[in-house]
Amino acid sequence: EIQQTFVALKPDAVERKLIGRIIQRFEDRGFNIIEIKMLKLSKELAEEYYSEHKGKEFYERLITFMTSGKIVAMVIEGERAINTVRKMIGNTCPYDAFPGTIRGDFGLYLPKNIIHASDSIDGAKKEIELFFDSK
Ligand code: CMP
Repeated sequence: EIQQTFVALKPDAVERKLIGRIIQRFEDRGFNIIEIKMLKLSKELAEEYYSEHKGKEFYERLITFMTSGKIVAMVIEGERAINTVRKMIGNTCPYDAFPGTIRGDFGLYLPKNIIHASDSIDGAKKEIELFFDSK
């Protein structure tokens, strides 16, 4: 089943010059990058994007981090993209992520966990619309 998923390389990935190496992993796996753009999230868009985390202890830190520099937003397409891309990314907490995953190879601390990817078909649809349809 061919799916599309939304992926964002976070400000820490851009600042550390990891863009090329991360995209390479998805292309090596056989996925296609079908949309891509670099942007700085406004506070409004960051809050909309992370509305499900509003009120959590780490929310303010997360918004500050996500608006601290540019991100790379993309749509990745391929066989079972949503699940497979999440597996390639690894555990949310970089210190718990297995070596061989993107977070497990490049990250160590929260909230700087390098990358985000949609976790469901509904989530992917919403995030793709938010970044590539209306803006
Ligand atoms: P992401 O998969 O984009 O979804 C929510 C983000 O919140 C997560 O990646 C981290 O960047 C951040 N996050 C989640 N849990 C924590 C935490 N306990 N402390 C700080 N940041 C967190």
